[in-house]
Amino acid sequence: MRIVMVASECEPFAKTGGLADVVDALARGLGRRGHEVDVVLPFYRGLRPPDGPLDRRTITVPVGLPPGSRADAGDVATVDLVDIRADGYRLRLVDHPFSFDRPDYYVAQGVDYVDNAARFTLLGRAALEGIRLDGEPVDVLHGHDWEAAPALLALRATEAAADPVLRDVATVLTCHNLAYHGWTPRERAWQLGDVGRSVGDVAGVDLLREGISAAAIVNTVSPTFARESLEPAYGGGVDDLLRAKGDRYLGILNGIDTGLWDPATDAALRARYSAAGMAGKAACRADLAERLGLDPGGPILGLVGRLDPQKGFDLLTDAAERLVASGARIVVLGTGDRSLVRGLQALAAGVPDRIAVLDRFDRAEARRIYAGADAFLMPSRFEPCGQGQMIALRYGTVPIVRATGGLADTVFDADADPTAGNGFAFGAAEPDALLEACGRAMSAWADRKRWRRIMARGMATDHSWDRPAAEYEAAYVRAVGLRRS
Ligand code: GLC
Repeated sequence: MRIVMVASECEPFAKTGGLADVVDALARGLGRRGHEVDVVLPFYRGLRPPDGPLDRRTITVPVGLPPGSRADAGDVATVDLVDIRADGYRLRLVDHPFSFDRPDYYVAQGVDYVDNAARFTLLGRAALEGIRLDGEPVDVLHGHDWEAAPALLALRATEAAADPVLRDVATVLTCHNLAYHGWTPRERAWQLGDVGRSVGDVAGVDLLREGISAAAIVNTVSPTFARESLEPAYGGGVDDLLRAKGDRYLGILNGIDTGLWDPATDAALRARYSAAGMAGKAACRADLAERLGLDPGGPILGLVGRLDPQKGFDLLTDAAERLVASGARIVVLGTGDRSLVRGLQALAAGVPDRIAVLDRFDRAEARRIYAGADAFLMPSRFEPCGQGQMIALRYGTVPIVRATGGLADTVFDADADPTAGNGFAFGAAEPDALLEACGRAMSAWADRKRWRRIMARGMATDHSWDRPAAEYEAAYVRAVGLRRS
């Protein structure tokens, strides 16, 4: 099949979160299955294309104009499409400096750019124009999150519906996070141009909603989150639409890139190791404790990620003192919500040999925490999939998670299931529940034999992209069938 993905992030070119890893790894996984994949991505400031020949082509795409524009104002934008061979797929960068040569991908000073609808409509329009110019039939347009919704909507707009190449393209939308909608108030809906004409309500356009409505098949990134999101509590305001999709709404559990995440080859680590030889993990642990000034005498709990209420870091702040009193060491790496960062830093200042807070984004240090910690904490309030728990499992670091979304699909409590358990889980998003699960994990840690068995089970699990890539392929086949009928 020929598949064109539209996304706002793709590792290693542009990344703020797990979306980037998924787009890259899925594109490669599909490539390994013999599919031809394009990833269409904005050419952001600072993006370094892979080495190799660039194929640059100038195209024009329609853009919306503000009401009251002069009749002779141009309603097209000139855009360059830059095609590059990435590892296993073709990367197509949409080069429009006015839209994408900016300090951030989405926001300025914490507030969304006012022209986000225009920027991502331009991305979608350019993706379609690229398909049209290539002239080769494309089976599926696969969008990721609200940023890709304009591409799906543009495909349904009248000129595309009449175009011999675009007419037959089937659509899939993956929802990685229902918290972001690309909300475009009415006074800015002109930014969507034709794409916005037939959608939205009096208040404005909710691009995530429109994308979900437009796509033949919609999925999210784990079976449990697919079920949870049918309820208002997790449905991000689109649960009604997701319910209406019926069996055209799926949960496909993400994988991790087992080549990039492998303690046997990870160059960031002090020592390397595998299930067959675990000495390196002890060296990584000692290195971590020493560099961060942590007393190595108790279990080290690691947390890595965006410090954001979604991730439940506030539960940790509330529980940290009691955790430390019961013997835990805590290391946190991440940036985000300033009050969460300051709260954690204040705690660390009181017990610097028990708590370390690294207030930054640091890929290498993240790897050293995945390897050097004993347990890995993810107390997420909601988690469509989550990646840290799968990396932790692969690195022999026992996950302690709130049983929600993808965490519930990958981490199984070792007390509830002594033969298959690979971690520890709790239910309520409350500090006491987190403490209870950490307490159970710490007793297991004290029993070295048992702990090693739990670690080994995690390391033996296969979280590669082979299975998810096959599931996406099946979803594409269905979307193509729906398009034909
Ligand atoms: C979003 C979700 C996260 C998921 C990632 C990749 O960041 O919050 O749970 O793992 O997308 O799909």
